[in-house]
Amino acid sequence: MSLRDVAVELAKLYCLNERGVAFSPRQSLSRWFKKVRQVKVINIKQKIQRALKLASLRIYRRADGFFVIGRLHKRKVDREALAALSPILEKRTEWSLNSDRLSTLLTGTASGKIWADIPGGHKWIDYFPIYDREFSEYRGKNTRILEIGVYKGASLRLWKKFFGDKSTVVGIDIDENCRSLGDAENGIQVRIGSQTDESFLNAVALEFGPFDIIIDDGSHAASHQIASFNILFHKALEENGTYFIEDLEGNYWGDKTGQLDQRVSTIDLLKTLIDAQNIVFEKHSYSYFFISGRTLKPSFSVPLISTMVERITFYTSVAVIKKTRKAPPLGYHL
Ligand SMILES: C[S@@+](CC[C@H](N)C(=O)[O-])C[C@H]1O[C@@H](n2cnc3c(N)ncnc32)[C@H](O)[C@@H]1O
Repeated sequence: MSLRDVAVELAKLYCLNERGVAFSPRQSLSRWFKKVRQVKVINIKQKIQRALKLASLRIYRRADGFFVIGRLHKRKVDREALAALSPILEKRTEWSLNSDRLSTLLTGTASGKIWADIPGGHKWIDYFPIYDREFSEYRGKNTRILEIGVYKGASLRLWKKFFGDKSTVVGIDIDENCRSLGDAENGIQVRIGSQTDESFLNAVALEFGPFDIIIDDGSHAASHQIASFNILFHKALEENGTYFIEDLEGNYWGDKTGQLDQRVSTIDLLKTLIDAQNIVFEKHSYSYFFISGRTLKPSFSVPLISTMVERITFYTSVAVIKKTRKAPPLGYHL
C-alpha cells in the first residue's frame, strides 16, 4: 500500500466524522493504527505522520487530555462584513497594553477581591467586572450554579464566597482527581463526567438542577461548548437563568490548540441565536404583529430556541445568554 493510499484510507476513515477521532493518551498510536486492517506495519510512526500530512490531517491534544486525529479549523474573521465598517472604524490602530489594570480589576470588583485570595486559579482578569455585572443579582440568594470545569477547584470556591451561604455550587469535570475538591457540607458538590455526555448531564440536572447559572469553563472545544449548550440550556437552566460561556478565544486559536474541532464554531452558533431571535420576521411582515393589523396572527412557527432567548451579551471571549419564556412580538398603533 502506498503512502498516498494510507492517506486516503485515513482521510476516509477519520474525516467521515468532521470532529475527527479521539483516542486516549494511554492508547499507543501504533497499536491503535494497527487496527486499520489494510496497513502493513513498517516504520509506522513516520508513515502515519507523513500520511496525515498528505491527507491534511493532524494529531492534536485536546484540553480533555485526549488526542484527536482530525482536520483542524481556524475561525476567520469575515473580511467582507468587516469592510462594511466605515474606513475610520476599520482602520488599523495601535492597541496598547495597560497592565496597571491588574489591581483595579482585582480590588475594584467583588469577584476579583475574592479571587485574589484563592490559590490555584488562572483567569483572564477582565472577567471580574463581567461576573459582577452578570451575577450580582444572584448574590445572597438560594442560587444554584453549575460550572463545567473544576480544575483545582478555585472557581468553585470563588462562587461559594461570591454567592453566599445559601447557594449551591456544582462543579463537573472529566478528571477523576477533581472529585475530592467537593465540600458537600458547605454546598460545594463535584461530579465526574464529560460535558458532552447527555445522560451524565441529565443526571446532574436531576440531582441539583434546574440551575440559575450555568458556566462553561470546560475543554473550550467548540464541539463540546455546543454539545453542552444543546443539552443544558433547554432542560437544566431555570426559565430566567443565565448561560455563561468563557474562553471563546479558543475558536480563533483552533488550529493551534484543537479547540475549533469542527467547521461550525461556537461563535457561529451564538451569531445564529441572533437570527433565531428574529427568524419570525423572515416570513411575516409588519401587519402580522400589530393589534390593529388586518393580518394579526395568533401564533407563529419558529424554532423552539426563538421562544427562549431573551438577550445575548457578547464580551471579549465571553458570551452570556439570558433565558426567558418569550411571547411573539406585538405592536400597537396609538
Ligand atoms: C480551564 S479548567 C477549569 C478552571 C476552573 N473553572 C477555574 O476557574 O478554576 C478546564 C477544566 O475542564 C476540564 N475538562 C476538559 N474537558 C472536559 C470535558 N469534556 N468535560 C468536563 N470537563 C472537562 C479539565 O479537566 C479542566 O479541569
